[in-house]
Amino acid sequence: MKEIKIHDKIFVPYITFEEIEHAIKKVANTLYEQHKNDVPVFVGVLNGVIMFMSDFLKHYPGECEISFLKLKSYEGTHTTGKVEMEMEIPMDLSGRHVIILEDIVDTGNTLEALYEILNKKNVKSVKIATLLFKPDSYKKDLPINMVAISIPNRFVVGYGLDYDGLGRNLPDIYQIKLEE
Ligand code: IMP
Repeated sequence: MKEIKIHDKIFVPYITFEEIEHAIKKVANTLYEQHKNDVPVFVGVLNGVIMFMSDFLKHYPGECEISFLKLKSYEGTHTTGKVEMEMEIPMDLSGRHVIILEDIVDTGNTLEALYEILNKKNVKSVKIATLLFKPDSYKKDLPINMVAISIPNRFVVGYGLDYDGLGRNLPDIYQIKLEE
């Protein structure tokens, strides 16, 4: 892996696909142990979750259903602070065990919006599982039930995550290069 340029910024290799897959397997097995006697609904937050959802499902050995919603809070490399709903969950979740799959939890604004949305849906239980978590940036007290990989507060791309629309298709994760 070598440095790459996306738009005006340079990114350096950070987490390999093998490391990501290993962390995802652990999350899938832990969630299976907790839900092997029910049929959970995994709700993915688009667009960033596409690769995580796809690989997670391959490693989840039990019965499950899936759905998606689309939220938006980032422009470029900075969060706008306000979270907008771009696509509602097209499924009745009442009485269901719901597990939200997120690509990354950064400030927690999106997470807060997700809890607000799910709290109105009469679900049986809600859990949050995120691929990446930036603890130094997190500003909320809301529970995050499962974190695959914790990372420092630096912008990353790849494996579903984008910088202004680009980089989502990279199989590995890259970190923004600090100015020298
Ligand atoms: P939060 O609302 O601040 O927690 O940010 C959550 C959303 O911001 C994620 O679902 C991502 O879409 C985006 N995001 C946060 N950090 C990064 C990053 O380092 N790279 C790419 N997108 C990010």
